[in-house]
Amino acid sequence: MKENILVIGSNGQIGTELVTALRNTYGNTQVIACDIRKPDYEYLNAGPFELANVLDTARLKELFEQYKPTQVYLLAALLSATGEQNPKLAWDLNMNGLLSVLDLALAYKTVKVYWPSSIAVFGPNSPKTQTPQYCTMDPNTVYGFSKQAGERWCEYYFHKYNLDVRSIRYPGLISWKAAPGGGTTDYAIHIFHEALKQGHYSSFLSAHTELPMMYMDDAIRGTLELMDAPSQNLRIRSSYNFAGVSFTPEILGAEINKHIPEFKLDYTANDPRQLIADTWPGSIDDTYAQEDWHWKPEYDLAKMTTAMLTNLKK
Ligand SMILES: NC(=O)c1ccc[n+]([C@@H]2O[C@H](COP(=O)([O-])OP(=O)(O)OC[C@H]3O[C@@H](n4cnc5c(N)ncnc54)[C@H](O)[C@@H]3O)[C@@H](O)[C@H]2O)c1
Repeated sequence: MKENILVIGSNGQIGTELVTALRNTYGNTQVIACDIRKPDYEYLNAGPFELANVLDTARLKELFEQYKPTQVYLLAALLSATGEQNPKLAWDLNMNGLLSVLDLALAYKTVKVYWPSSIAVFGPNSPKTQTPQYCTMDPNTVYGFSKQAGERWCEYYFHKYNLDVRSIRYPGLISWKAAPGGGTTDYAIHIFHEALKQGHYSSFLSAHTELPMMYMDDAIRGTLELMDAPSQNLRIRSSYNFAGVSFTPEILGAEINKHIPEFKLDYTANDPRQLIADTWPGSIDDTYAQEDWHWKPEYDLAKMTTAMLTNLKK
């Protein structure tokens, strides 16, 4: 089947890499990038690009009418830290953007929809270590509970309307191609830039704050593997737990020191992102992803650190 793939929110940290990966697989003209702002990256111009606000339903409908997408990836969202600065907008964008896309996907018979959730769906009373797929979930950020509600809607559209929606709870994603979009795990990207530029970084998270993370190459590969998996193998229609590597700022700093011995790491106090991080898991149990679509990460801490430093030096 000839695919037409619409990626909404294509210019962010994930979209810039996902669009390229999809174009490599399906061809440049088959992947339509779409964002509320023009692309900063020349390679996004390699194929079609549409300027659109996901909350403008009429404009979104035009795009579905024009392209009749067989697959839609919805990446437009406000992230955890930015969401706390504008909670109502975060709720509106994260929730109504999703509902519009689900409805248009049904109306235009889109075959598959991808929508990312996050480890932010967990909260202070969720188990901290090897957090399981099913457990107490009491997120206390608007980002977290918008993702939790989004998961419920995805599962609902699957069961009620037979819409093939697939989703992953991404951990903090580490990448070098595009800047991160304002999340609680962004320190783990800034640290590499500053280690190379200044030889010094002040982490906004404390030394022992362990969080689940993943190198972007793994995240993109995992996403495409989930989208390629046979529908009948997928037991989770809310969103899959998805694990890469867990570490603290102190452990990451020590790994960077193996490459840059003079690198110095210190910590700033009282950052609001610490309060968010304190409610999130330290590590994730992703047994369902391993069993259902054979998920296996390739990047451990050492390999990710080498990849980040090598690519950023270029
Ligand atoms: N990056 C991570 O570490 C991470 C972790 C967990 C989940 N996620 C999820 O993955 C998705 C993508 O994340 P990201 O890191 O690429 O985010 P990002 O902020 O880097 O990119 C989001 C993109 O959406 C666009 N956008 C914002 N409002 C829009 C609107 N109204 N209409 C159309 N486009 C709009 C932005 O211009 C931006 O290019 C989000 O749903 C996010 O919650 C990301």
